[in-house]
Amino acid sequence: MNVLAKPLEKFATNSLEQHWMPFTANRDFKAAPRLITRSEGVYLWNQNGEKLIDGSSGLFNVAAGHGRREIAEAVHAQLLQNDYTTSFGLGHPTAYALAAKLAKLLPEPFNHVFFTNSGSESVDTALKIAMAFHRARGEGQRIRFVSRERAYHGVNIGGTSLSGMVRNRETFAAVIPNVVLMRHTWDPANAFARGEPEKGAELADDLQRACDTYGAANIAACFVEPVAGSTGVLVPPRGYLKRLREICDRHGILLVFDEVITGFGRLGAAFAAQAFDVVPDMITLAKALTNGAIPMGAVAVRDEIYETITGAAPAGAVEFFHGYTYSAHPVACAAGLATLQIYEDEGLFERARALSGYFLDRIWSLKDSAVVRDIRGYGLLAGIEVHPQDGKPGVRGGEMQKRLFANGCHVKWTGDTAIVAPPLVAERHHVDEIVDALARTLKAA
Ligand SMILES: Cc1ncc(COP(=O)(O)O)c(C=O)c1O
Repeated sequence: MNVLAKPLEKFATNSLEQHWMPFTANRDFKAAPRLITRSEGVYLWNQNGEKLIDGSSGLFNVAAGHGRREIAEAVHAQLLQNDYTTSFGLGHPTAYALAAKLAKLLPEPFNHVFFTNSGSESVDTALKIAMAFHRARGEGQRIRFVSRERAYHGVNIGGTSLSGMVRNRETFAAVIPNVVLMRHTWDPANAFARGEPEKGAELADDLQRACDTYGAANIAACFVEPVAGSTGVLVPPRGYLKRLREICDRHGILLVFDEVITGFGRLGAAFAAQAFDVVPDMITLAKALTNGAIPMGAVAVRDEIYETITGAAPAGAVEFFHGYTYSAHPVACAAGLATLQIYEDEGLFERARALSGYFLDRIWSLKDSAVVRDIRGYGLLAGIEVHPQDGKPGVRGGEMQKRLFANGCHVKWTGDTAIVAPPLVAERHHVDEIVDALARTLKAA
């Protein structure tokens, strides 16, 4: 560990310039950098050796806690045994083992998994699968997609096109056309509603309106995050997802759940599909699939989708002209297998469900702070939204993120909302530590 930390510290003071950091205020950050040089369990250490609690599980991906030896050892062993095999027309056992293990966690009838390297690639892959599926069924005219305001579906061109967050799309006007956005589900009348808000299921009828306006037979798929994560945790109104499902069924539209954040126990079940008892047609995954240790994503599909696309191609032909050099990378697959084994051995999804009540109680204890505008949450995922400062969105949130860090806690903020998502291995005292740091920071805001 020290071997790695030392050179980093040596370079830290004068060599930050060359790394163009993503989703970061580069000039601001480089003037006062916050560097992490070590991580273990629920904790991080910065360049000064100060300990911080990780209140967002990295970027919602380190569900089993940092520094898991089981994953490191699996990665090491895989690298030595077979470091790389292409998945274009070749195979290796770890990929099949991971797909089979994932299929066991997924709802029925999901028994086919396409591997990618990130959530963004999963979303773009799902867009292409939707197009290929309809074309294989003789409905190639279905070229329109429906998404939602305030949606985040990654940053590739497909996902950006589905995006409903203004800053993520205003610079990039030339995205794919033919995307219709439904209204988002945040309603001030539901402020501080815990879990699924009672009001708002009828917002799902925006999908029907899109059908009425554009023609249902032209719509390929409807993409939603079951809980909209990156926009600040918007829990779906009770009955909303079921209503989307019904409308999709009525019109032959595919329903895609983007579970890049909600997958792998975050909501107290393997997937949001099970937590909300609504089975979509595709599920996009990434993040906690490998506990954040190695980049990897996946798209899981209903059997009918796989069978239709493969069945439509002539015998011996490639059925789906899509894939990445690193699709099903052996090392990522090994990390994924070890990760899923940890989730199973430690019962982490059940553990998340058991801790959720305490977690939400503690988060809701912050609601009387003068600066807090709304709190939303489900499972081990919560959003704490503060009032914008002087009417300028994001300014207070940005400042609070820095102050929270100085108070010993890392939490990802989006605009004026803190997204709290402790690792699923967290104990009650870890939740207390996160909430106490938030309370101190809110008090000083
Ligand atoms: C719902 C959702 N989809 C897609 C992505 C993109 O994932 P990645 O950053 O791995 O490309 C994210 C990332 O936060 C996400 O939350």
